Amino acid sequence: MKGVVLAGGTGSRLYPLTRVTNKHLLPVGRYPMIYHPLLRLRRAGVTDIVLVTSPEHMGDVVNLLGSGSRLGIDLTYRVQDEPGGIAQALGLCESFVGDEPFVVVLGDNILGEDIGSDVEAFRKQAAAGGGARVLLKEVHDPERYGVPEFDGDRIVHVIEKPSDPPSSYSVIGIYFYDASVFNFIRTLSPSERGELEISDVSNRYAQAGNLSHGILSSWWGDAGTFEGLEEANKLARDLVYEELPGVID
Ligand code: DAU
Repeated sequence: MKGVVLAGGTGSRLYPLTRVTNKHLLPVGRYPMIYHPLLRLRRAGVTDIVLVTSPEHMGDVVNLLGSGSRLGIDLTYRVQDEPGGIAQALGLCESFVGDEPFVVVLGDNILGEDIGSDVEAFRKQAAAGGGARVLLKEVHDPERYGVPEFDGDRIVHVIEKPSDPPSSYSVIGIYFYDASVFNFIRTLSPSERGELEISDVSNRYAQAGNLSHGILSSWWGDAGTFEGLEEANKLARDLVYEELPGVID
């Protein structure tokens, strides 16, 4: 399965930390933030990865990661000229992904567990007809995230940053899609904040009745705000990717 890591956007919620550097290069625990999504993918056996970032920061990102060989992955890059939203950034990856099911990780998502079992679950789902899969985490502040609304055990709707959340779960920044996602993205219109929203993509699958979900059992952090960055640093303080010393020179 191929992987997509989205590291575009302005990082404006972290100004002035992000005035001259990309949010995804800031430290989280012992690593630059972007290592976390890349290494979770690698641990799940996903090594063929496209990384999207902004023109301003592509040079720094390539300086850090290069071909990916030091992390044991094979990196391709795409430039998102303007920060038009997560779904827009994903749309840039169509030719890389091709017709196969794939996994997307947002560059500011930090996880305390591996995602191999969800990669496997989605592989089976894709073989049985396709669709999409999202991962959820119970949180105390769902209004900061995309929030699922359930009918029994099934997600029927995802609402982006609702003032009155329909559940206490966050849709975290890991998404599994079949290739029909690119047709959905082409039909999206910008939200009130002027972005193509990933929650609107999830809703297309929810409406079609083929949006599955998994629930994280370990910790999770979204490091895109000061509060989130501080929390992610605490959570990831002792996190070590033991496999790295072997591949890093
Ligand atoms: O972290 C989980 C949340 O991520 C989800 O619950 C929300 O449904 C989802 O919309 C997203 O919300 P955020 O407000 O945290 O998204 P943010 O704008 O911080 O973007 C997350 C990552 O996506 C960011 O680290 C880089 C990438 N991105 C974002 C934008 C707006 C891009 O590559 N291009 C973009 O234009």
